Amino acid sequence: MSLTNNAVSDRSDAGSDGNRASDALEAFWARAAISKLEARFALAREMETLPHLPIAQLRAIVFQYRYFTQAFITDLALLVSRCPEGRLRSLLGQLVDEELGEGDPEQAHARLYDRFLESIGAIEPGASPHDLRGSVHPKVRELLADLRDRTINFSPLYAIGMRGLGGECVCGVYFSVMHTHLRRHPFIVENGATIDWKFWDIHAGHADAEHNHLVREAVAELLRERQQADAVDELARGYDFGTSMWDAFWSTLYHHHGARTS
Ligand SMILES: [Fe+2]
Repeated sequence: MSLTNNAVSDRSDAGSDGNRASDALEAFWARAAISKLEARFALAREMETLPHLPIAQLRAIVFQYRYFTQAFITDLALLVSRCPEGRLRSLLGQLVDEELGEGDPEQAHARLYDRFLESIGAIEPGASPHDLRGSVHPKVRELLADLRDRTINFSPLYAIGMRGLGGECVCGVYFSVMHTHLRRHPFIVENGATIDWKFWDIHAGHADAEHNHLVREAVAELLRERQQADAVDELARGYDFGTSMWDAFWSTLYHHHGARTS
């Protein structure tokens, strides 16, 4: 075969690889559509049960979220260190800055969540992260350790799928569905005026939806540059693991607190 033919054949191989990659990416986005996540979470029996739980159970369940919030910030920072240079890396860096309160620890999202917990009586006012360190449910600790391990040791694309898409994006959808159900709980309705809603205003509102969109665009750009179908597979594997963690989290807490979901 002549050099010219080789070059033509290489170009057409690259072209079909590119087509396969963009088909794989499109199929992935269709599977990971926000509307599908919303429908899945909204139908979850655990979500429907939320407004009917005794207040002590509700407090105990939402309390465990604080550990997810804290672990997420560190994992996101680790993801920045592993992400290829480009738009996604800078965007993740900005998200870390926002999570940390952009220089004001009182505005850090983990702190805002603790203020919400204080305002519903789930933690003592002024309890420090150090005081609360030992109250993490062992299974939650295990789930978070697994996420941390994979963020550090699995491929960067897997970690991006898991903590970028399956963490940041899924979290936003999850929180907005959870917020809707939480607001129907009689204790929450009765005490709505004294509850610190700032965490929820950020996470169940427009800002998170905007983040979601930006992260997805930046990930799509990264994959377009790669043009490899197996890159999409790797991202999808991470995404599926990240979303499965939410289900594992719920079932753990519901079993532990004895809530009936049927
Ligand atoms: Fe946040």
